[in-house]
Amino acid sequence: MDDRNVILEVRDISKRFGGLRALDTVSVAIRRNSVHGIIGPNGAGKTTLFNLITGMLLPDSGQFEIEGKPIKKVRPHQLVSIGVSRTFQNIRLFKGMSVLENVMIGQHVHTPTAVFSIMINGRKSRSAENAAREEALAALGFVGMARNVDQNVDSLSYGNQRLVEFARALAAKPRILLLDEPAAGMNPTEKQHLLRLINSLQQKDYTVVLIEHDMKVVMNVCSTVSVLDHGKKLAEGRPEDIRRHPEVIRAYLGKSDRGHA
Ligand SMILES: Nc1ncnc2c1ncn2[C@@H]1O[C@H](COP(=O)(O)OP(=O)(O)OP(=O)(O)O)[C@@H](O)[C@H]1O
Ligand SMILES: [Mg+2]
Repeated sequence: MDDRNVILEVRDISKRFGGLRALDTVSVAIRRNSVHGIIGPNGAGKTTLFNLITGMLLPDSGQFEIEGKPIKKVRPHQLVSIGVSRTFQNIRLFKGMSVLENVMIGQHVHTPTAVFSIMINGRKSRSAENAAREEALAALGFVGMARNVDQNVDSLSYGNQRLVEFARALAAKPRILLLDEPAAGMNPTEKQHLLRLINSLQQKDYTVVLIEHDMKVVMNVCSTVSVLDHGKKLAEGRPEDIRRHPEVIRAYLGKSDRGHA
């Protein structure tokens, strides 16, 4: 692969949890402007990979590079500056707050205490706050939730809560967007909508890394798919080849019902 086309390079990453090898010398090269799928059975190490890229965990060995530059010990609040944002497999929204507030608060704040301290101490300049509001409104407009901005997140359907998470990651204006099972729990109509959104991101100069169990979703949006199993990269290629790959089929069979096309 032409290195100039690689925006995010995962190189020989390993991570153990006690005796468990969650990731074992995994390398993946993500091309600029691509939608790159990460699939694999439950416990394969997919979310761990995102947790390592985003600095929530430190790798035991290996490294990440963004546009050829090694990223070292990035702290979650520094992610925006390196152009990375993510969504979480388990929706992380602040109950009791509005859709707009949830998107404005941003994704690097993970605890109610942190929200509270921002409210008390955060004397952001008015222009910074206005800029954050504009970004949040633009992201919510993009995902089709312009009419829900003042609604309490608790009152949203599960699918719409996922869209708020998505909007929150987008509002950080990342170059690289890491989506951890964004379609999980969505109905078919909501999935279609999400697919259209992800496809249109590609035209807007984003690079998307998508963890997904639904092979139909993967087939529809991903140009390349990497398959993880037991922390190892099992296969990589175009989705139409991957779904026929004997080892991939074997990895899925008998482990879980999820992931069958
Ligand atoms: N912080 C942690 N401490 C200990 N073990 C962990 C931790 N995070 C993940 N694991 C273990 O590492 C393995 C990989 O987990 P991970 O969440 O990355 O899998 P996954 O591929 O995202 O699975 P799923 O499809 O169920 O979301 C699992 O066995 C999991 O139990
Ligand atoms: Mg996971």
